[in-house]
Amino acid sequence: MSKMWSGRFKESQSTLLDEFNASISFDKNLYLDDINGSIAHSQMLAEEGILTQKEADDIRDGLLQIKDEVDTDRFQFNISDEDIHMAIENRLTQIIGNTGKKLHTARSRNDQVALDFRLFVQRKNSEISKHILNLIDTFINLSKNHTTTLIPGMTHLQHAQPINFGYHLLAYASMFKRDYERFEDSFKRNNYSPIGCAALAGTPHDINRSATAQKLNFIAPTINCLDTVSDRDFALEILFNISTMMMHISRLAEELILWSSYEFKFITISDAYSTGSSIMPQKKNPDVPELLRGKTGRVNGNLISLLTVMKGLPLAYNKDMQEDKEGVFDSVESIQISLEILNEVIKTMSVNTDKMEEACAIGHLTATDLADYLVKNCNIAFREAHFITGEAVALAESKKIDISELSLDELKSINNKIKADVLEVLNLKNSMNARDSYGGTSTAQTLKQIEYFKNWLEKLEEVN
Ligand code: ARG
Repeated sequence: MSKMWSGRFKESQSTLLDEFNASISFDKNLYLDDINGSIAHSQMLAEEGILTQKEADDIRDGLLQIKDEVDTDRFQFNISDEDIHMAIENRLTQIIGNTGKKLHTARSRNDQVALDFRLFVQRKNSEISKHILNLIDTFINLSKNHTTTLIPGMTHLQHAQPINFGYHLLAYASMFKRDYERFEDSFKRNNYSPIGCAALAGTPHDINRSATAQKLNFIAPTINCLDTVSDRDFALEILFNISTMMMHISRLAEELILWSSYEFKFITISDAYSTGSSIMPQKKNPDVPELLRGKTGRVNGNLISLLTVMKGLPLAYNKDMQEDKEGVFDSVESIQISLEILNEVIKTMSVNTDKMEEACAIGHLTATDLADYLVKNCNIAFREAHFITGEAVALAESKKIDISELSLDELKSINNKIKADVLEVLNLKNSMNARDSYGGTSTAQTLKQIEYFKNWLEKLEEVN
């Protein structure tokens, strides 16, 4: 079959070229966006008197039939069609005859692919945003149950200060809120329509780009056609947003893996989301968080790939840009399934609060409290208080006990300004609640944070 663009060629193309050049095997993912874009474009052409309304309606009906054929697996994808745009246009002409050949008036594949891909990215942006809100909701609900559950707060993966588990979970809610906002910002920034830019310079046809933009729910048409047909920032943004979110998920995954180990046992991942070993019958493996951590590699790769493809391309469209899609499809698929399964893992895991609290009894978590006590109650400079507390830690270590288990006499032997009220200060729960500064871990502050996230979610629901 001869190519749509074969007018200037004398010989037919090699099949190797077809194989190398074609994008149909993956850009068929854009069929829905291509059809929606073409319907909007042809209706605009009719409104402007460039097509008759009957022609535009025939085109629409033909395109809807094609949508149905794809949806029900009856559409024949042929490598000789090169890409989804030509495959659909060819089929349209088969269905409705010569009118199909008018669809491409006042556009080029350059603005068409920019439109289709942007519609796809915008659609996926919204789907991902919804998944993120569900995940944040899960974190808020779980944190409500754990505003008094003690867990060792760590730095350098070493026991540092007692915090509550709810507070720890809300750290992730904070990260995911930023992720949500990043996807939303990108959506807004890129919500402009490329169609009608044609090859690179606009078109001599008297089109109305604003009308097409409106039909496709964009804010407005893009301002400069030369930039538009060569811009893939919207794709890079979704890749970056996915990578950043995957990095957050990977940090959480790492904690879930540690927490479900025998050494921690802070959580038990439900059987529904655990796997066994083919050789060791006793094993229950955290494959889901491990895969979540592992997926960071491929989504980061996709981001770097596209940054590299775009680097150094002269204006405007270059065929290099056909390499923009597979990575985006892959990253989008990866983040969507990751968000869904992570949500389920968190919802169904059990939290072993006794193990968390047991872990707080080791590591001298309230050492900082002793130093602060010496500053506040004994008029000792912090640097000196830090040193004295170090001596108390050494004493506790020599006795193989925690600093909170030293007797009043033992503490007094280190510094005689210490009084009986120190014992309250060294208590783990009191220590957690003492950190009552804004954004801190006290139960009161944690409850305020829960309120904050709840209100934020509720406001979003009202707007949407
Ligand atoms: N399949 C192409 C792509 O994905 C569509 C645009 C082709 N445009 C062109 N001038 N060859 O980039």
